[in-house]
Amino acid sequence: MTDGAPRNTRRDFLAGSAAALAATALPGCRKHRDAITLGLYAALTGNMADFGIASRNGVRLAAEEINAAGGVLGKPLHIAIEDTRGDSSEAASAVIRLIHLEGAVGILGEVASSLSLAGGRICQRYRIPMVSPSSTNPAVTALGDCVFRVCFIDPFQGDVMARFARNSLHFSRVAIFKEQGSAYSVGLAAAFKEAFTRVGGTIVTEQAYRSGDTHFSAQLGTILAQNPEGIFCPGYYTEAALIAREARGQGFRGRFMGGDGWSSPSLVQNDDDKLVGDFYSVGFAPDGATSGVARHFADAFQAKYGYAPNDLAALAYDATLAMVAAIRRAGSAVPERIRAELAQTRNLDGATGLISLNEHRDAVKSAVILEVHENSANYHSTVNP
Ligand code: PHE
Repeated sequence: MTDGAPRNTRRDFLAGSAAALAATALPGCRKHRDAITLGLYAALTGNMADFGIASRNGVRLAAEEINAAGGVLGKPLHIAIEDTRGDSSEAASAVIRLIHLEGAVGILGEVASSLSLAGGRICQRYRIPMVSPSSTNPAVTALGDCVFRVCFIDPFQGDVMARFARNSLHFSRVAIFKEQGSAYSVGLAAAFKEAFTRVGGTIVTEQAYRSGDTHFSAQLGTILAQNPEGIFCPGYYTEAALIAREARGQGFRGRFMGGDGWSSPSLVQNDDDKLVGDFYSVGFAPDGATSGVARHFADAFQAKYGYAPNDLAALAYDATLAMVAAIRRAGSAVPERIRAELAQTRNLDGATGLISLNEHRDAVKSAVILEVHENSANYHSTVNP
């Protein structure tokens, strides 16, 4: 957890600026006085922008449906949105703005675990409940009793992909290529390694890159020299696509495997076939959706935006439903009351299935493995916890 953890100086600075904002901004500058405001912080620009856009669309669809049905506790639901630009100090200040300038009584976000760690610390400090739709690193909800998630966690996801590599693809030699400094990537790499070794496989080498890198030939040279059958690449879509292209150029003919961080239309929208036949795990696939809410969501999303939703959109929709259901059960928009009710979330009927939060404030859910085709990633199989 190297990035995402603001150093003391930055933390003090943020605390100071939050106090200043609170003193000047509340409650007079709160913009939507007659509404109940939730804040969404997400990367709407930068190299994780696909994450934020999908999440925002999922949250907006939920809010629109809730408002069409009469709102929450007799008030309209307002979603205030702040761009994190994929940066952890931006994420922290985005959350401060949402709480102190917008008057958000609950926070939705972030996608990337390192950013949820930064924003979650702020929520925990001000005791504002936060629901991350999609951050899978265990440390996120371990921040404290104000931080929840509606997705599975990486020890499970790593186990799913390790067993798939071993039992379905029959691999015994796999290399890991992870993003140094990403809580998500480092944690998922460790989970995969532990599980793949446990089922009798060998990790032939473990290499690392940094966010924003565009050339990987040195590490790929080391990886290909080991002649692995597969490369597990637990990073985000931008780098994963570049890595795959470069590895194919260097002659790699094995399979790539990844986790939910690959989830983006950009992964498959290029005209080359670098990842065709490769696999990654996610929490939801619209073409595997069977339950009532899942189908309703997939159809409503397609109708509103003109394209099929991915896991991020579905999880963001569900995070909104979970927060609103907690407000309704509490009969109050007081953050502490919402927090207490969120902890009681059981069998919430969401787009990604029935959601129950355990004592760690995590959802226990199935994973879906997707296979990459020419211009899309399609449902391959479901793995239950
Ligand atoms: N699980 C990733 C993380 O924790 C975020 C992510 C989830 C990205 C789902 C894409 C899809 O950083």
